Amino acid sequence: MAIRNIRVDGDDILRKVCKPVTEMTPRIETLIEDMYDTMYEANGVGLAAPQVGILKRIVVIDVCDGEAYTLINPEIVEESGVQEGDEGCLSLPGLVGTVVRPDRVVCKALDENMNEITVVGEGLLARAICHELDHLDGILYKDKTLDGLYSVDAPKED
Ligand code: NI
Repeated sequence: MAIRNIRVDGDDILRKVCKPVTEMTPRIETLIEDMYDTMYEANGVGLAAPQVGILKRIVVIDVCDGEAYTLINPEIVEESGVQEGDEGCLSLPGLVGTVVRPDRVVCKALDENMNEITVVGEGLLARAICHELDHLDGILYKDKTLDGLYSVDAPKED
């Protein structure tokens, strides 16, 4: 168990495209454990491997719906609906922005045992899946905000 250093916006590694995982190794098992520790310690609902400096297609998500998801080589195979809402990121501390995302996604991935899984996400889980998968292609939510970023301490007025 270890807390890893979270890379912040401006670090080039957040803009790289990550490589697929071809086999589970002890090193990757440790990485995944550390990603959960790091995410929970920072009170995040998701974390992607490049955020801890590893260019592999791995994300962990826990939106407090009773289940935590490890998604390896994830792909969104279906999406529907639209939701507009505020989003933040552990790599952009103290900031939020409004992003339009699908309201429902179907995601295929591999789990920690390299077994194929399908995760259906709605609402916040759909948003988290989209956000974390973007990280694997070097995309940050700030690239997609409707009206830029604002401080969590001074929310914009409606
Ligand atoms: Ni993020």
